[in-house]
Amino acid sequence: PEPGPAAAVPDAGSPDHVLLRRIGRVDPLSLDDYRSAGGYAALREALRLGPAGVIREVTDSGLVGRGGAAFPTGRKWNATAQQPDAPHYLVCNADESEPGTFKDRVIMEGDPFSLVEAMTIAGYAIGARTGYLYIRGEYPRALLHLENAVSLARERGLLGPDVMGSGFSFDIEIRRGAGAYICGEETAIFGSIEGQRGEPRTKPPFPVEKGLFGKPTAVNNVETLVNVLPVLLMGGPAYAAVGTAGSTGPKLFCLSGAVRRPGLYELPFGATLGDLVEAAGGPHEGRSLRAVLLGGAAGTFVRPDELDIPLTFEGARAAGASLGSGVVLVLDDTADLPAILARVAAFFRDESCGQCVPCRVGTVRQEESLLRLRSGASPAAEVPLLREVGRAMRDASICGLGQTAWNAVESAIDRLGLYSADDPAAPDPAPGGTATPAPG
Ligand code: NAI
Ligand code: SF4
Repeated sequence: PEPGPAAAVPDAGSPDHVLLRRIGRVDPLSLDDYRSAGGYAALREALRLGPAGVIREVTDSGLVGRGGAAFPTGRKWNATAQQPDAPHYLVCNADESEPGTFKDRVIMEGDPFSLVEAMTIAGYAIGARTGYLYIRGEYPRALLHLENAVSLARERGLLGPDVMGSGFSFDIEIRRGAGAYICGEETAIFGSIEGQRGEPRTKPPFPVEKGLFGKPTAVNNVETLVNVLPVLLMGGPAYAAVGTAGSTGPKLFCLSGAVRRPGLYELPFGATLGDLVEAAGGPHEGRSLRAVLLGGAAGTFVRPDELDIPLTFEGARAAGASLGSGVVLVLDDTADLPAILARVAAFFRDESCGQCVPCRVGTVRQEESLLRLRSGASPAAEVPLLREVGRAMRDASICGLGQTAWNAVESAIDRLGLYSADDPAAPDPAPGGTATPAPG
């Protein structure tokens, strides 16, 4: 494979970077380069601390999951390590599929050894001998770079029966997804690895208790895992001092859409949404901001007057939004919002696994209603129907896909005023009510 990252890192080489510090600066295919840039110092430290010591540092760091749900990593690792059932497994969720998300891809393509090292540390902490790396099928370059990294680490005794001469045995198996968004859901990954259909399972039991092959499993996102390297190098408490009390450490943000410098940005938690949009150069010449979609297709639209939202898990939550996996999709005044909503709805309809009725039927009904609105149907009839369908999906779906499939539509209506009486873009109500009948 050719070296070098494919996605843009506008501030590549910034001395402020922690997670991206090696991107574009080391050859991602060279273990020697990785080691001379500080690689494998964190694993050495982990082996010195012992599994309980590693979990203590990770807990003290306040690190929470970066896949989107912000669950405390130390708690997850401790719960897995404590399970009496054996074997324990580690699964790295590298099925990065949220529209607008490309942070894990940049790490895997540009700094693959960091993920291999971090998985080894995680496996050591939770008492696993095997880690599965479940990678999105549409990431061929990342796959090649990781296969190379795993094989070189094995050759040099950094994976295998005696990691770094410590007696700890750990190896990594790579599994490739085949294009289904739902296989990024942590329990659907289990089915996919086990050779079954990739369908979400009900939780509880949580994977820490009953996960891959029914055994205790810690599932962590790529960005979460690579954060463990600075946690061990700095020490948990020093890491916890970066960012805010509720959101510690550095964070990657995927900036896309109508900004001058789209790409991947690393900032300590605490900057505002406006700071980030400004860092990306703001809207193009002569254009103005219409909205920002925060958190991807499952996320929330916010208005231009809400740019003071702090980019922290707690700040976004307080503003009625969610950081998700760090997607910031900027729309300017040329954006066709109804078309974007129809596209989002089509995405969820397409990606629903069909296992439960509220999501299987709801995502179809939602899309139909949005298409009717685009063709001039009356919002007075369609919006209440959308709300009813959205509520059913949110309350009664088995997994996050169905539960969040109406978020973006709801926020476009409630926060941006789309299809409201004072929306200048709203169509004139058809005489006598609906332009097309609502579905039965
Ligand atoms: P969740 O809130 O159900 O779980 C989060 C994590 O904490 C899981 O690993 C779960 O097993 C664990 N957990 C929760 N409660 C636990 C307990 N009591 N004991 C032990 N472990 C516990 O969220 P979910 O459904 O795993 O993730 C949803 C998020 O995924 C959304 O916020 C969305 O933004 C994000 N997402 C990210 C994508 C990406 O490409 N990065 C794609 C799609 C969704
Ligand atoms: Fe499948 Fe949707 Fe139900 Fe999730 S909510 S299990 S994707 S049908």
